[in-house]
Amino acid sequence: MPSSKFNKVENIIPELEKIIGKAFVFIDDENKNKYAHDQTENLHFLPDVIVKPKTAEEISAIVKLCNLNLLPITPRGAGTGLSGGALPINGGVVISFERMNSIIEIDERNLQVITEPGVITEVLQNAVKEKGLFYPPDPSSKGSCFIGGNIAENSGGPRAVKYGVVKDYVLNLEVVLPSGEIIWTGANVLKNSTGYNLTQLMVGSEGTLGLVTKIVLKLIPYPKHDLLMLVPFNNLENAGAAVSAIFRAGFTPSALELIEIDALKIVSKFVDSTIVPVTEDMAAHLIIEVDGNNPSILMNEMEAITQLLTEFDCGDILFADDAQQKEELWKLRRRVSEAVKIDGYTIEEDTVVPRAELPKLIKGVKELGIKHNFKAVCYGHAGDGNLHIRIKKAGSIYSLNNPDVIPALRSLFMLVKSLGGTISGEHGIGLIQKEFMDIVYTPAGIDLMRGIKTVFDPNNILNPGKIF
Ligand code: LAC
Ligand code: ZN
Repeated sequence: MPSSKFNKVENIIPELEKIIGKAFVFIDDENKNKYAHDQTENLHFLPDVIVKPKTAEEISAIVKLCNLNLLPITPRGAGTGLSGGALPINGGVVISFERMNSIIEIDERNLQVITEPGVITEVLQNAVKEKGLFYPPDPSSKGSCFIGGNIAENSGGPRAVKYGVVKDYVLNLEVVLPSGEIIWTGANVLKNSTGYNLTQLMVGSEGTLGLVTKIVLKLIPYPKHDLLMLVPFNNLENAGAAVSAIFRAGFTPSALELIEIDALKIVSKFVDSTIVPVTEDMAAHLIIEVDGNNPSILMNEMEAITQLLTEFDCGDILFADDAQQKEELWKLRRRVSEAVKIDGYTIEEDTVVPRAELPKLIKGVKELGIKHNFKAVCYGHAGDGNLHIRIKKAGSIYSLNNPDVIPALRSLFMLVKSLGGTISGEHGIGLIQKEFMDIVYTPAGIDLMRGIKTVFDPNNILNPGKIF
């Protein structure tokens, strides 16, 4: 929580202006309010100043200045985070990466891209797609989130089930350390056994160890075809059980998502879509996509999966006929989080369990809802066992330090742990989950993390109060 050890920012404003120019230093109330929140619950913490640097050298100078004056820095991408990583909980300096938004080079010979962190993920994906290349990690916010934020949180998204998450694509990073030193963490190579893996240590470190200023990503050839189907179930646990059966039967879909019916109804209304017919007996849908380069193989795969699903008592399957239908289905899926939040499901969890335990997790969530008096909708990346659980509880619109909600979340995370899972699959710990780290790590594990933090950032100026 906010700490008083930090000095006052006012004294360094002229120096910040000298480093990056007056035009890129903001202390007005409108900007402070704009950078006070991300997408996490409804939390607001005002920064004292927002700076928008353009280069690693400028960031280095800012970091040195903050270190000298013991001022907290909160790095910020597009502010789409769901665990509070970009919330300036101690005030201080927000470093926004929005001006560092160039794709530096698409290396078609080596299937790599070098980019700055402030590039919107979908912009990057489209730029490499023009060259026939694919950068798969696709968080739901891909149209607005920054690639740098994705690295900070080790984001995933629907296609992670076949293609992996952000960490599987990051080859090398340029990082400004809390000391102001600028380093590269690795090399632009596909294999690297050269000492500790600093690249992977930075991925998912939530802006607590360094500020990423250049990113080298691996790319793969773009798959030429995909097929998409939507499968209704009248029993939520059956839908969960079907998921692991698909993989056991030897298929690896490029997406395998689950949406519980209440979430589907809310999002359909929110985006004004009737593409998915809803009947009273439905409990959940699976969205299943396969991709590859040979359409007839894909057709065979879809037919075999369809056959398998009948054993799980599914309803009439809807096949997306064309690109427009596919896009509409994906739009529905991507906007669930936003839609259910507006509908009052303001507390979002990012649980993940071994895939075959999904039915137990779903059943357990519903039981906990009865016990702790909350409503929950489940949706997310069922193929990865990564279930987003959105909670609505009368009188409780947020979880942070909220005694009405914390016991329920603790029970939920104990359940997740007992199933062999953990408390975040892709959103990070940030501010709102750190209270529960003791469920999944022993003190020795947390002490190790604290030790790493101290080596990088002895003065604790970089995103203090996040993760632990
Ligand atoms: C999603 C985000 C919230 O899967 O992770 O929709
Ligand atoms: Zn997700």
